[in-house]
Amino acid sequence: MSVLPPSLVDMDIVSQDGLELNRTHQGDNRDLLKLLPAESVALSVWSPPYFVGKSYEQGLTVGEWSALIHAVIAEHARVLKPGGFLAINIADILAFSDDSIPRFQADVVSTKRSPVTREQVLAAKAAHPDMNRHQLAALLGCSEQTVQRRLDHNNVRGGKYKPQTRVKTVGGMLEEFALESGLPMYDRRVWVKDPAWANSRWHSLSYRAVDEFEYVYVFWKPGITRVDRGRLTRTEWSEWGSRGVWEFPSVRSNDSHEAMFPAELPRRVIRLLTDPGDLVLDPFMGSGTTGVVAAELGRPFIGFELMPDYARLANERCQAALRGKDESDRSVRPTERPQSA
Ligand SMILES: C[S@@+](CC[C@H](N)C(=O)[O-])C[C@H]1O[C@@H](n2cnc3c(N)ncnc32)[C@H](O)[C@@H]1O
Repeated sequence: MSVLPPSLVDMDIVSQDGLELNRTHQGDNRDLLKLLPAESVALSVWSPPYFVGKSYEQGLTVGEWSALIHAVIAEHARVLKPGGFLAINIADILAFSDDSIPRFQADVVSTKRSPVTREQVLAAKAAHPDMNRHQLAALLGCSEQTVQRRLDHNNVRGGKYKPQTRVKTVGGMLEEFALESGLPMYDRRVWVKDPAWANSRWHSLSYRAVDEFEYVYVFWKPGITRVDRGRLTRTEWSEWGSRGVWEFPSVRSNDSHEAMFPAELPRRVIRLLTDPGDLVLDPFMGSGTTGVVAAELGRPFIGFELMPDYARLANERCQAALRGKDESDRSVRPTERPQSA
């Protein structure tokens, strides 16, 4: 049974296996995607695990992570309508652990650097052969670490964060997976969020930039695509519809889910690439953000989510949004109703 007003429900897109519309179904998306009828989805918009150590990625190897994304993209070749779109929000991995690369060696130049020289340490050691490092440090007015470094000829530090990390870009991987499934990349945008210092995993011993932008990669399933510039106002077109850089803040409080995207992200993608009544899919539904926005915009949706608690949360949030939409629809006079209602 569908939870949308009957006017918005196209019963043909509920599969025989009973994949109900306007719900997040709990399970592995690689299994659940198979239950969706072919060519049923107008737009799939999602943000997968980024392979950055979130709790729902624990135990996943990099190979398993990329295989998951590969399998999900491949299944889109079947479920997308011809002319439909797949929009993936993802970020590069800024501190990708790789033990095979040389350790980053930071020659620290700091205002806190001790002026005590190796010659002074050697002279103190010669004058007080019985003193240990702790006593020598007290005598010289420096730290034990400084004494040790001067004795070892070592002023090079690896940093307290993982030293063997490199940046791993992900766009090329998605492009390759999609293209081999017959989904060419149609567009790419950069979402500039607020600087996320906590995600950056490096602080003073680095020249790297902090984490402050992500991508939205858009893939297209060949077929006829309805292009309707009337979906956005003239101002919206000039402010974001035709712009390669989108700027809005990320979700600051991640109490209920640790990696939510802001509603503005799926809102822009859904408004740009669909009409009311078009089916929207999010196979990595998380807390339900895509479903909430789809409900608000009058698009039926289907979500998949592996973690039972998140699936429950998504359904609660989406039900509330659907109830709100239903009530606001009732308060609109019939002549003002959107076309699909
Ligand atoms: C980056 S989060 C998505 C967050 C979501 N956009 C939101 O705003 O809440 C990725 C989600 O994918 C889920 N996930 C990971 N592997 C999955 C799989 N194989 N099938 C379904 N969901 C999966 C995770 O549990 C996590 O909630």
